[in-house]
Amino acid sequence: MTTSGATDRARVARAVSRAAPGLARDLPWVGARDPWAVLVSEVMLQQTPAARVVGPWRGFLDLYPTPEALAAAPLGEVLTAWRGLGYHRRARDLQRTALALVERHGGRVPEAVEDLRALPGVGEYTARAVAAFAFGVRVAVVDTNVARVLARAVAGRALTPREAREEAAALLGRRDPRRFNQAMIDLGARHCSARPRCVGCPLARVCAWRAAGGEDPAPTSAHVTRPQAPFAGSDRQWRGRAIERLRLGPATSFQMRRHLLGLEPARRRRVLDALVADGLVTRSAGGFALAGAPRVAR
Ligand code: ADE
Repeated sequence: MTTSGATDRARVARAVSRAAPGLARDLPWVGARDPWAVLVSEVMLQQTPAARVVGPWRGFLDLYPTPEALAAAPLGEVLTAWRGLGYHRRARDLQRTALALVERHGGRVPEAVEDLRALPGVGEYTARAVAAFAFGVRVAVVDTNVARVLARAVAGRALTPREAREEAAALLGRRDPRRFNQAMIDLGARHCSARPRCVGCPLARVCAWRAAGGEDPAPTSAHVTRPQAPFAGSDRQWRGRAIERLRLGPATSFQMRRHLLGLEPARRRRVLDALVADGLVTRSAGGFALAGAPRVAR
């Protein structure tokens, strides 16, 4: 990294810090210090937009205020609490995590990134987010929002995974990890979104991409996720439909076929196989049931 690169990075970091109060969105988990509540929010936010997480996050924590409570709950009930969030495997993983917390960590969420990383469904992003937001550990979090800011404003080019991590750490420096990481996420959500809104962006004057022009470096940069495919007609929608049916109780193969009418057989098998592989659904000779729920009576 050249000297001018470092200088530019310092300018970006200062601009982010200054802009932080104005970027804050009114989200209930911001400022939450209960590590369990923070962990639940970050798992929900992995693949669901913040606005859609607010209600389910509150409801979920009402039902399961501790890892013990979630570990003991029937899966059908957990999936009901998960409604509206999609990607149900996360609910299953979160329940497995709750059990691991009870068994290995005395019912508490650990503080160290490596301990968090060892939990089911907790990747690098989530581990760092919980360490930073719940415990104030000085680690940089890089989600898709932050990754766009790094590629565009800081580097002006697509970054490798390692470069993205290093840039994020250098940008954070000795700053307050709660405040700074939140500001980066909010900046990526408000301005440096997939389709950037540069008018009014607090980084407009220091942004490397704006200065250099050219193609948007974000889409090919590390940790930038592609926009989700449309929900309608997707496997995700059919998975949700199968789960909705099984929340009512076990279904015979015939009942399931009828419930998934319109889905061609090969794809129906694929959808159901994936639910089984994810540990959400069990299959018996007679049909299907939610994992942990009673088997189909024949
Ligand atoms: N997305 C992921 N983590 C977030 C957070 N803490 N606040 C807002 N959006 C987020």
